[in-house]
Formats: sequence, C-alpha cells, structure tokens
Amino acid sequence: MRIGVLTGGGDCPGLNAVIRAVVRKGVTTYGHEFVGFRDGWRGPLDGVTRPLGIAEVRGILPRGGTILGSSRTNPFKIDGGVERIKSNLAERGIDALVAIGGEDTLGVATKLDELGVNVVGVPKTIDNDLSATDYTFGFDTAVNIAMEAIDRLHTTAESHHRTLVVEVMGRHAGWIALHAGIAGGANVILLPERQFDVDQVAGYVEKRFQTQYSPIVVVAEGAQPLEGQMQLHNQELDAFGHVRLGGIGQWLAGQLEQRTGKEARAVVLGHVQRGGTPTAFDRVLATRFGLEAIDAVNEGDFGRMMALRGTDIVRVPLADGTRELKTVPLERYTEAEVFFGS
Ligand code: F6P
Repeated sequence: MRIGVLTGGGDCPGLNAVIRAVVRKGVTTYGHEFVGFRDGWRGPLDGVTRPLGIAEVRGILPRGGTILGSSRTNPFKIDGGVERIKSNLAERGIDALVAIGGEDTLGVATKLDELGVNVVGVPKTIDNDLSATDYTFGFDTAVNIAMEAIDRLHTTAESHHRTLVVEVMGRHAGWIALHAGIAGGANVILLPERQFDVDQVAGYVEKRFQTQYSPIVVVAEGAQPLEGQMQLHNQELDAFGHVRLGGIGQWLAGQLEQRTGKEARAVVLGHVQRGGTPTAFDRVLATRFGLEAIDAVNEGDFGRMMALRGTDIVRVPLADGTRELKTVPLERYTEAEVFFGS
C-alpha cells in the first residue's frame, strides 16, 4: 500500500514519535510505502509532499514539533476542497491516510471518511480534551513544563512578597491548569469550566500571604470571571472558528493587585508548553498509537481513531473522538480546591 501521513492543528511533543512508529512498522513489518503530506490538510489539498521512509524518520523520536509541518487548514471551508484532496490522493496513488491531530484535524478526517477516503486518526493535543481516549500525548509534556515553571515561580514570588499569576493553555478545557496547578502546589487554580469570582480569588491570595508565603495563581487562558469579561488580544478567528485567546492572566494580576494592595505579576507560558522534547510517557503513548494506527491501516480498518483506555490501546470510531469535548468534571476541581488559599 501507499500511505500518506499528515499532522494538523497546534503542534505538540510526540508527533514525530507517532510518524516514526507508523513508518518503521509499516515498512519493516508490512512492506508499505509512505508519502509525507506537508502542513496538515494543506498537504493533500495543494498536493505538497515530502519523502517519508526509514531514513527520514531516523533520530526524530526525541524531537519536538513535527517533521511534516502543521497548519489549521480546513478543506471544508475551501470551495472544491474535498474534490482537490481526492484527486491529489488519486494522482499520487495514495491508498490510505494516517491523520494525526486534535478536534479539528480529526473532525475533517471523520467527514472525509464518510465521503469515502480511507483514513485512520491518531489523537494529539496538549489540551487532553479529546473524548474517547483517557490521555492524548503532548499533555504530559505540557504539564511538566508548566509544573517546572510554577516551581521556579514559588521561590521568586516569595523573595518579593508578590502574587504571581501563571497563564497556561487551555481554551475550553482546563486539564493543563488543573494538573500543573496540583503538581506545582498552586494556591488557586482557575479553569474555563467554571467562572470565577475575583473577590474570592483575592480572598485566597490574602489568606496565603498571611501564612508568610506568596500566592501562585494558575489560570487557564479560557477561564472567565463571573462578570463575564473575556480578555482577548483580538477577535481574529482561525479556519475552524476559534478566537485567539490570551490576556486573562494580565487582567487578573491587575485586579488582584488592586484588591489586595500587594504587587502582582503575570507570566504567560504560551507556546513554551508545546515546544521541545516529549516526556517518556508521551514518547511511549505516541509510539503505541503509531503502531496501532499502522495495524489498522494494514487491516483496512478505516474510520477509526486510536485511543488509550486504562493501559490498553484500542480503536474507536473516528466520530467518537470529536463528538464532544472532554472537559474537567466538577469533582476533579473540588479535589484541588482543598489547597486553595493555604
Ligand atoms: O489546541 C492546542 C492549543 O495549544 C491550545 O491550548 C491553544 O489555545 C491553541 O492551541 C493555541 O493556538 P495557536 O498555536 O494557533 O496559537
């Protein structure tokens, strides 16, 4: 078989580990050939490819990012997009596609599968918000990066008796904020799933100062205060209709400074959370997803997404992965609340 591979959406550590596993097993065990499509769905749409064989995947296991490039291209927003993809695949003799991506990339894969394109999906996102899989790779790396940042911020916050607000990624789901906040011993954690009361947060901050330690507030970029104010850099939408977030940390630091009379600063971790080498957990998960994905393609088991259930890798219908976002349940937030302000 001739198999195309693409990576779409926001990049995340572990993408190269998936590509390597797919190609290594595909070539050595099954004798398949591979074509790399560049920059997500833009590759099949515009027919932009690069060679993808054993030589091309050597040494990429620990490398962050994606050797194939990525984009947030949505072929369903482009006139004749689907027809262009189909004809480009036919022209290059591609029998099947492995699409590695999050909600948006796999949403496109689901629709293409329904339109007769042979495709399997591998879930990725640092946000860990895809349903049907317990974890996505990239999440563990992002949480560790954020945790290390919080560890460092504790010591400098204490030296200066100031509040430090750490803004982490997480548009609709606060998994990174929750896990990094718990692991880093944050004094308040704010998630998109639950609007927060600034006065209550200021109360936690005051309480923490009373212990002679300095407060660390972890806020997900999509978190919103009760008043319904949303801090946006701009209103620009991407091809999947997402606004670009950012700014809540800065805004909150200002509000806390005003209310507590103590200096507050904001740190925005941003894309640092998506860069660099994956953790061991993410390398293993990504590798296992890749191995299962090539097995699925080899068996002609299309329209499936790889998923982690407990410690097993299983295949689920592609549509199950993107049907609804996996957000943080209230009881998980309640666990963390025990530590707020103390
Ligand atoms: O979906 C992954 C993610 O990193 C989100 O956490 C974040 O909101 C978004 O991508 C940022 O997108 P961009 O890379 O386009 O700035």
